[in-house]
Amino acid sequence: MVEYPASNPLLYAWKPVGLAERIMPYSSVVVLTGAGISAESGLKTFRDNDGLWEGHPVLDVATPEAFHRDPKLVNTFYNQRRAQLLGGEVHPNAAHKALAAFEKNFKGEFTLVTQNVDDLHERGGSIEIYHMHGRLLQGKCGYCEHSFEIRSDLNHLDQCSECKRSGALRPDIVWFGEMPMYMDEIETKIRRCDLFVSIGTSAAVYPAAGFSDLARYCGAKTLELNLAPSSKSEDFSESILGPATQLVPQVFEEILETAI
Ligand code: APR
Repeated sequence: MVEYPASNPLLYAWKPVGLAERIMPYSSVVVLTGAGISAESGLKTFRDNDGLWEGHPVLDVATPEAFHRDPKLVNTFYNQRRAQLLGGEVHPNAAHKALAAFEKNFKGEFTLVTQNVDDLHERGGSIEIYHMHGRLLQGKCGYCEHSFEIRSDLNHLDQCSECKRSGALRPDIVWFGEMPMYMDEIETKIRRCDLFVSIGTSAAVYPAAGFSDLARYCGAKTLELNLAPSSKSEDFSESILGPATQLVPQVFEEILETAI
């Protein structure tokens, strides 16, 4: 993953478009979600808190170098996030559920790509999800890459069940400097979609931040649903500002009503 500086805010111009202009029959829809879709479920986003993620600079807990430097701290950080996710207080919200309903009812091709490592899309009812930055509920061995489900704490000193080596158990999450997952599949889907929707992401991290450009170059309409303007807002066909729990159910119901 690569972080880019936000573009010049003066270039940003949001032009509200009426419903009639927005709604067209679409046959292939790709959705990209980011931390903003889970914010109203109680999970903190990355860039709305003075650059701190739950009190830590993101790069202190989300790079291979950080893990090599202090594997205990990094695993403890993700163990806390995993415990929070499974602790009974974090639930999928109306936006997660609306995307699941859309997947169920849309007759065309639908692809859900998420940068999020939580399991709220799954719990909201979505079936097919590309977790391009990995999953919190999956661990892996840094030596042999063996990946396994994990719902409790990870300790890097535990032995890998596959290669039997100790010292490198970590979350199966894509950190800065690592290659995001499913890129070939995602690119293929974006190239043939006629609507690309970005939800709750600041567009600060590539390659995900470039997906809307690819969709646009390939002729798709691009729509952004976000609480605040992102660094790419001016590049979308339309950018609508508001909380995901309000915008997502409304917009996807409208898309469904006009679907072919
Ligand atoms: N509804 C919609 N959008 C929201 C809401 C909400 N209720 N709350 C916040 N947002 C928006 C913010 O305005 C912001 O633009 O969500 C966005 C969250 O941005 P980030 O915190 O940067 O999260 P994201 O874009 O998912 O980060 C990308 O960066 O650190 C890495 O790997 C990590 O996947 C993550 C990647």
